[in-house]
Amino acid sequence: MDTKLLIQDAAASQTPMLAVFAVDIAVGKDAEPLPALLTTSDAVTNAAAKVLATGEFKATLGETLLLHGPGGLKAERLLLVGLGKSETLTVDEVRKGAGTAVRAAKPLGIREVAIAFPEDHALSDEHLESLPCTLLSRALVEGAEVAESDWDTYRSERKDRSVRTLSVITNESEKSTRAEIQEGFDTGLIVAAAQNFTRSLVNEPGNVLTPTELGRRAAAMCAEVGIKCEVHSTAKLDELKMGAFAAVAQGSNEPPALIVMTYEPQLKKGETVAEGAPVLGLVGKGITFDTGGISIKGAEGMEKMKYDMAGAGAMIGAMRAIAQLKPKVKVIGVVCSAENMPDGKAFKPGDVVTAMSGKTIEVVNTDAEGRLVLADGLHYAKTLGCTHLIDAATLTGACVVALGTLNVGLFSNDEATWQKFADAANITGEKFWRLPCTDDYKEQIKSQIADMRNTGANRWGGAISAAMFLKEFVGETPWLHLDIAGCAWNDESKPWIANGPSGVAVRSILEWVRSYSN
Ligand code: BES
Ligand code: ZN
Ligand code: ZN
Repeated sequence: MDTKLLIQDAAASQTPMLAVFAVDIAVGKDAEPLPALLTTSDAVTNAAAKVLATGEFKATLGETLLLHGPGGLKAERLLLVGLGKSETLTVDEVRKGAGTAVRAAKPLGIREVAIAFPEDHALSDEHLESLPCTLLSRALVEGAEVAESDWDTYRSERKDRSVRTLSVITNESEKSTRAEIQEGFDTGLIVAAAQNFTRSLVNEPGNVLTPTELGRRAAAMCAEVGIKCEVHSTAKLDELKMGAFAAVAQGSNEPPALIVMTYEPQLKKGETVAEGAPVLGLVGKGITFDTGGISIKGAEGMEKMKYDMAGAGAMIGAMRAIAQLKPKVKVIGVVCSAENMPDGKAFKPGDVVTAMSGKTIEVVNTDAEGRLVLADGLHYAKTLGCTHLIDAATLTGACVVALGTLNVGLFSNDEATWQKFADAANITGEKFWRLPCTDDYKEQIKSQIADMRNTGANRWGGAISAAMFLKEFVGETPWLHLDIAGCAWNDESKPWIANGPSGVAVRSILEWVRSYSN
């Protein structure tokens, strides 16, 4: 999408469709909805007055109403987009509202959309506290860009419904506010492109996106944005003694890929990296297809297991935005990619493997392969000098059972690091729910014959057992673990996002990284 920021009066916007946001300012539980537009343009307000008076449009989040030939406006159509109750309005509703506007245009074949920048000062303070301008602008652009993608690229008869041009219209006269809007706009474009890049990787079928191909795409991306990328395979795994990662890979004809992306902050002349400066390690589970291996999964729904590399996708996407936003902190992305297949050479239940850290693992279930590849990825990141670790993985079905599809499972061994991440997630609008991984759960992964087993002793708390396993490999290093199994793929579409890969966690990982920039 060609997205631009225009300083203009909304009424003067010559566009096939002008979208304007509305909130419900009614107070009290039983009050009738009272929609109010977030615009100071009298012409826009007048054009919508008649239909608003009917009560047909209630301004609930994701609700739209389309007016043709709105009087007094240059636009061919006026789209009212609901953001829900004014009392609960945050920038996240604006993100979703912008997405709703773009997705409303698509089935109508409209190629150009203009969105009026929400003017919260159109309402008095009693209805709406003012929202931070830069974040508002960023969220709007993110929402619109993410909404534009549909995942029908493999359908030969698909109709091109793309929105090609998006104009964000503001008539802001204050110079400093204009600069804030511009800053948010620029950041939003980068963040959304990263999230969409992740989604495009996760969307690929397993026969196209093998570990080798994932390595190629990561390398091409890194070359494009100017960061270092190394892609290794079996020989390097052997050299590093990554016995856990290699065991998962050995049952497939597709060789594994160990992808290492390095972002070094550019220092100004005379600046030096402070002693003890943090180095952030982003570790992703990149199983390009998970059959379960010898502990093979049932046929029903197995096709979905192409998205078992969504954690890797999130880290690769985050690295793309990091390279462009240039935070002042070193970041290393480590992706452990393999295909989990059953064949004559595959690893088996009962096998004992030795991880890179030297710890031995009794493999009880070959379908618990994600934690095996991450065990070596996390340890390797530490040997590369990472002082803080974050991993993302579609790790357990148990996490989906526990939290459903709205919250990512979050685990951490460090309060301060967790707090920093929670603050970051507050900015991005993504939802995370912390689950415990205290040492009293360690019992779950005790093995009679090795240092640990790769599944819990029983079915209970499966997401926690998996986290406890990973914890064995991070040691004292502050660490965050994101179990994105429930959130990385949307089975159903929403007014603001297509079904398919969500790109979850990219924005929050990125924001967490930026919080270390000094
Ligand atoms: N990739 C799966 C986890 C998963 C399940 C992701 C459902 C998305 C949706 C993972 O490798 C796996 O199979 N985990 C097992 C672990 C079990 C064998 C201890 C699971 O969750 O069933
Ligand atoms: Zn599995
Ligand atoms: Zn898996």
